[in-house]
Amino acid sequence: MIKFEINGKPTALDVDPNAPLLWVVREVIGLTGSKFGCGMGLCGACTMHLNGEPVRTCVLPVSAANGQRITTIEGVADGETLHPVQQAWVDENVPQCGYCQSGQIMSALALLEKNTNPSDKDIQAAMAGNICRCGTYPRIEKAIKRVIN
Ligand code: FES
Repeated sequence: MIKFEINGKPTALDVDPNAPLLWVVREVIGLTGSKFGCGMGLCGACTMHLNGEPVRTCVLPVSAANGQRITTIEGVADGETLHPVQQAWVDENVPQCGYCQSGQIMSALALLEKNTNPSDKDIQAAMAGNICRCGTYPRIEKAIKRVIN
């Protein structure tokens, strides 16, 4: 039995401990905001937080989350009120196709939780592992700056 807290909700699941966390969250729990992109830990589409740290859940066995705290994009807003980072994404019209954006937001949140006033370089370094095929990078940077200004 694997036990963890996901978006504040205690959860216990009888799943293969080697199954990737992304699969368990999407297919077993039914939270599909985190996306499958490369499946190799390279693109960032599957990013969630494990104890507040961004992790690539396509390559993380669910057993690694045992006893831990997971946050997904579904746990970021406060009820109907978007998190300021999500609101900035809306205000700057960041998404194009949108597929990578939950991972982008989770990485941006992790950055801003550690560094409330990141430089352009800090932003680029923190976001470098999140790939966007639509090339929304300039708007992602603008949205992050909108939150800190
Ligand atoms: Fe996990 Fe690409 S789907 S890093």
